[in-house]
Order: sequence, then C-alpha cells, then structure tokens
Amino acid sequence: MISRRGLIAGGAVTAAGVLGPHRSERQVIRLASTEVTPFHGTHQAGVATPPQAHAVFLGFDLLPRTRKEAIVRLLQLLTDDAARLTQGRPALADTEPELAATPGGLTCTFGFGPGLFAAAGVDSPVAALPAFKTDRLDKRWSGGDLLVQVCADDSVSVAHAVRMIVKDTRSFARVRWTQRGFHSPTRRNLMGQIEGTGNATDLDKAVWIGQGPLRGGTTMVLRRIRMKLETWDAADRVAREFTIGRRLSDGAPLTGAAERDAPDYARKNALGFPVISEFAHIRRAHVADPALRLLRRPYNYDEGLSAEGESDSGLLFACFQADVGKQFVPVQRMLAEGDLLNEWISAIGSAVFAIPPGCAPGGWIGETLLS
Ligand code: HEM
Repeated sequence: MISRRGLIAGGAVTAAGVLGPHRSERQVIRLASTEVTPFHGTHQAGVATPPQAHAVFLGFDLLPRTRKEAIVRLLQLLTDDAARLTQGRPALADTEPELAATPGGLTCTFGFGPGLFAAAGVDSPVAALPAFKTDRLDKRWSGGDLLVQVCADDSVSVAHAVRMIVKDTRSFARVRWTQRGFHSPTRRNLMGQIEGTGNATDLDKAVWIGQGPLRGGTTMVLRRIRMKLETWDAADRVAREFTIGRRLSDGAPLTGAAERDAPDYARKNALGFPVISEFAHIRRAHVADPALRLLRRPYNYDEGLSAEGESDSGLLFACFQADVGKQFVPVQRMLAEGDLLNEWISAIGSAVFAIPPGCAPGGWIGETLLS
C-alpha cells in the first residue's frame, strides 16, 4: 500500500516548498492526485488504510424480492466498478471518464448487514447491536443491508465513485442514508481532540478474522454521534482534558509528557484522587488485551446548523473489530454506563456490517460468503 508520506515525497508539493519553511511537513498541498491504493488482496482496502481526507458512507436497502442470484450480480458489478475506479480507470459506461483519472487514493469498502444475509438465505455472521442507555437513535441514520464506504483525498473522486456506485445499484437497492465525513491530517475531531492514539495495533488478532467464510474480513460498527458543541464550548480547558484523560495540546495522557506515553491509571493527585478520572473516556474505553482493542477510523461530520440553530456536527464513528460482541459491545457498555463525555455526545445513528475479505483479480467481494 502506498503511504501518505510516500505521496508527500513522491508527487505532491510540500508546503515547505510552496509556503516557506515555517510550515510543518503535515501542511501539504496535494495536487490532483493520481495516487492509487491497491484494490485486490487478502483484505479489503479502507480498513487498515490510513484515513483519507474525505469519506462518504452509503447505506442501501435491497429492493423487495432481491434474492441471492441478484445480490451476486450486484456485487460482481460493484466489485468491477471499485476495481477500476480505485486504479484510476473509468467504470464501464462511465459518463465522466476524466474524473476517474485522479483517484486520490480512492478506496471502496463493502459491508453486508444482517438483512443482506437474510435476503440471500445465508446465516448472518453479524446481528443488530443491543440497545445502550445513552442511545438516541434515529431510523434515518440506522441499519442498512449493504454498506459502501468510499474514501479518497480528492472530494471529486469520492463524488464520482459514489455516483457510479449508486447508478449501478439502482435496479437492486435504494439508498437508505448517505453520511459524509472529513478527516484532518492533524487527526483532530471537532472537539479539538487528537484521535487514534489508543487504536489496535495487532490487526491480525484484533481486526482480521482468522477462520470461516469471513477469513481475511472483519466487522464494522458505524455510529453517527452528535456533539453538543455549544455546551462543550462552555466547558473550560481543565474540564475538557479531565473528560478525556488527555491533554488537548498534544494528546498526551494527563499522567505523561508525550502522546504515546502509556497512561498511568494508578497515579493519584495531592488530594488522593486519580489523576485520570474513574469516568474519563480513555479509562472507561481502555481494554488491556491488545487482541480485544478496536481499530477506530472515524470521520468528522458537519452539516451546518440544525433547524433549532444548533450545530449539526459530530463524528461518524467507524470502528473495525474481529468480533463485535467481544470487542465493541463491552466497550460501548462501559461508556454508556459512565463516561464524562456523555454530557456532550449522543449516538443518533447505528449500523453493523460484516466486511468480507478482499478478492483476487477476476473475483468479487462476497464470494466466500455467497457462492
Ligand atoms: C463523539 C464521540 C467520541 C469522541 C469525541 C471520542 C474521543 C476520543 C479521544 C479523544 C480519545 C483519546 C485518543 C485516542 O486514543 O483516540 C479516545 C479514545 C478511545 N475511544 Fe473514543 N471517542 C468517542 C466515541 C467513542 C466510542 C463510541 C467508542 C467505542 C464504543 C470509543 C472508544 C474509544 C477507545 C477504545 C479509545 C482508546 C482507549 C485506550 O486508550 O485504550 N470512543 N476517544
């Protein structure tokens, strides 16, 4: 896989060259990018791939009476689209072939919801999530039979791929929801925090499934989490850092000096209270066993103002794990039961998908599950 740093070194113009020496290496101007992320392989791209700048998550409902044979045809069609577009080649009958030439690291990642397996008459490896007491779920952001996660550093490339995919899906399924997100190379979310520090690193254990029809695949949980930025803005810096257990400036734990320092959950302050609160987000979410950690790949969303004049923004919290029941559910339960962050966030959408393994040239996504 071509790394982001590779892109910076290998074609795009760095800000240091264009904007003077005072800008950091991260501040990069990307030219229309012909960067290509391989499509074929053991795993689908878009999971372990470092998050690109733009994402669209498409949730589809299969049309009534769409059965296995039709689902297979649909997946063959979509696999062909993705295999071409991600490599900078137009889709079949592409109406705007020029737009395919600059994929910008495009990835198209497919996921199957419980409803797709039911329609195909195959046992589903994933089930709907249990309810959590902090959920405020809205149907219009929840569920879905088929997911396509489209990501790239070029927003036009994303829009073009989405259009091709929606067009080719039309005879089989209808769009249930479209969720657009963006990611900053600073890794900061809209609350200003740096994300990704405590992510799973042993992906062979924590993310990729080792056996059965989903071997080489994984599962995805997608939660649309609204942030109440108006009241978050009113909290002072100490309260914000206490809520997470990390500093805003550099993401270091409140007990450490640098982002990657291990948090010291036992350390007490002069009054005998834990420095990292019992209810701090990172303590509640922490899992000691590396094989049970989550690979979070979240995107920010910002839809401007709601009808009530409040910010309609938050996180498209996408996370990958080998086993939803053993990994995501216990963490989400801990958070629902007592996370200081709950004061400012609520989950308004929720969906779960099996992410099939990748495929070889000539193959199609889902063949190990449906053929
Ligand atoms: C808007 C919602 C959320 C925000 C703003 C948020 C923010 C953060 C931040 C700033 C960190 C510390 C840096 C890092 O390790 O990434 C973190 C860690 C983490 N979060 Fe969240 N988070 C949110 C929702 C969730 C949800 C829904 C889950 C899972 C159910 C979750 C699970 C985790 C885990 C597992 C860690 C790493 C803990 C460790 O260090 O072991 N987060 N989150």
